[in-house]
Amino acid sequence: MDLFSARVVDNEEIMPSTHVLTLEAARAARSASPGQFLHIRCGDGLSPLIRRPMSIFRTDGTLLQVMIRNVGEGSSWIVRRQAGDMLDCLGPLGRGFRVSPQARNLLLVGGGYGVAPLVGLAERALARRANVSLAVGAAASELIFPASLIPEEVEYLVATDDGSAGYRGFVTDLIPERLVWADAVYACGPLAMMAALARIMRDLAPRKPAQVAMEERMGCAMGVCLGCCIESTRGPLRVCTEGPVFDIRQIVWREEAAAIGTRGPGVGGHG
Ligand SMILES: Cc1cc2nc3c(=O)[nH]c(=O)nc-3n(C[C@H](O)[C@H](O)[C@H](O)COP(=O)(O)OP(=O)(O)OC[C@H]3O[C@@H](n4cnc5c(N)ncnc54)[C@H](O)[C@@H]3O)c2cc1C
Ligand code: FES
Repeated sequence: MDLFSARVVDNEEIMPSTHVLTLEAARAARSASPGQFLHIRCGDGLSPLIRRPMSIFRTDGTLLQVMIRNVGEGSSWIVRRQAGDMLDCLGPLGRGFRVSPQARNLLLVGGGYGVAPLVGLAERALARRANVSLAVGAAASELIFPASLIPEEVEYLVATDDGSAGYRGFVTDLIPERLVWADAVYACGPLAMMAALARIMRDLAPRKPAQVAMEERMGCAMGVCLGCCIESTRGPLRVCTEGPVFDIRQIVWREEAAAIGTRGPGVGGHG
């Protein structure tokens, strides 16, 4: 983990309020694994004081990308950065997805900007000749992650709340019929989506490996402040250091207890 200054080489708005920033960050790009994140400073002065955690979206040689949904003060500052600007970053942080070499068929489930860590995971899996199916849900078609940014070998399944693209309904409705095929399941998205997935795994595939990338508001992102704890079957766990990726069965998914703090299911800009 390093504290480094990364030059922005590109900023592209890939869908409404969602930008992909490409950063020159050779060392982080080489060491990062899918599911890890950067803690990014979001201003030139003291406000906002606290960095914001953002998943590592993709890495390519010396370049690293993050995908940012503009939901508030910090993210809005990041999406206004242009080529040539510098970003103050800490990372890569946390524990990423763990993929068994035996897993041949990977089922990835994303909601809103939760697709960010899954694209890098899909690329790594394809490189070792695994088969990847990526199911993504969003409120409407304009908020669906663009298929053009997904490797063509990936089977891409789409669900929208309003039926404007793909299946009409929740992305988790698409999962039961894919479970026989899948050797392992990996998810990132709104809390309600991941809680629904946990119920499906418990009822239909209780022994199949499944991991989730969790989100919580963070302070230090280094395991010190305890500001990011969530409830697990082993007691509180820090999302920043023990996670953000956990075994789905480690998490206590009762909606009122899934996050210790004020955040309820589905908030946090996931669309
Ligand atoms: C490990 C991790 C990886 C993340 N990866 C991404 C990513 O790849 N792309 C992306 O756009 N966002 C990601 N996020 C969420 C991102 O950190 C928050 O959206 C951001 O901190 C909001 O800051 P803000 O100042 O823009 O908004 P604020 O004004 O601070 O908040 C705006 C809204 O977002 C909610 N919110 C703020 N922080 C969080 C949080 N950490 N989790 C859930 N809800 C929150 C607030 O309750 C409020 O409703 C990630 C979060 C974590 C913990
Ligand atoms: S953010 Fe401080 S312990 Fe996790």
